[in-house]
Amino acid sequence: MDAIKFRAPEKSDGAAVWELIAHSGSLDQNSLYCNLLQCSHFAPTCVLAERNDNVVGWLSGYVPPQQPDTYFVWQICVDAETRGQGLAQRLLRQALARDACQGVRRVECTITRDNTASWALFVGLARDLGAVIQSELHFDRQKDFRDRHASEHLVSIGPFCPDRVDRLHAA
Ligand SMILES: CC(C)(COP(=O)(O)OP(=O)(O)OC[C@H]1O[C@@H](n2cnc3c(N)ncnc32)[C@H](O)[C@@H]1OP(=O)(O)O)[C@@H](O)C(=O)NCCC(=O)NCCS
Repeated sequence: MDAIKFRAPEKSDGAAVWELIAHSGSLDQNSLYCNLLQCSHFAPTCVLAERNDNVVGWLSGYVPPQQPDTYFVWQICVDAETRGQGLAQRLLRQALARDACQGVRRVECTITRDNTASWALFVGLARDLGAVIQSELHFDRQKDFRDRHASEHLVSIGPFCPDRVDRLHAA
């Protein structure tokens, strides 16, 4: 884990991010164009983790314009060999410590019911931030996805104090 470096993405990282997600085994594959936008327009709120110049972790997220106190996690992905070592938690802490997230007091994401690792990740984040976690149906399989995708549940963590983020980032 010590050999892992965290940084904001650059446009030239888009293709490597696309490949990491393609190999994730469970994430929706966005277009490469979408990943390029994330690595450019959304770079201040996205985090790349690399080891020996290889991308081993990725977090895309943004602060929704209509919810300036919220960091919304779009996708988070750790390569299969590096899972279970705390990298996803560190990606989230890196994002929350960014200047672009200084006004953030909540974290949101959507998760399908069967994604055990993802639920464990966000339950752990809520615990570490000392915050309440709630969930409710958000994008419905029938109504919203027209049976093309499992229902997504909106997970909301917060509110939390900014000093909890500082302490986590320093840990
Ligand atoms: C979800 C994912 C990002 C987690 O990455 P990770 O680096 O292995 O997670 P961490 O090691 O930081 O673990 C975070 C917490 O989740 C728990 N956890 C991780 N994987 C787990 C699993 N498969 N089953 C149960 N708990 C799990 C850890 O024990 C840890 O709990 P703790 O905080 O109580 O110690 C990774 O499994 C992944 O890339 N999955 C495929 C993509 C995906 O589904 N992304 C989420 C939807 S966008």
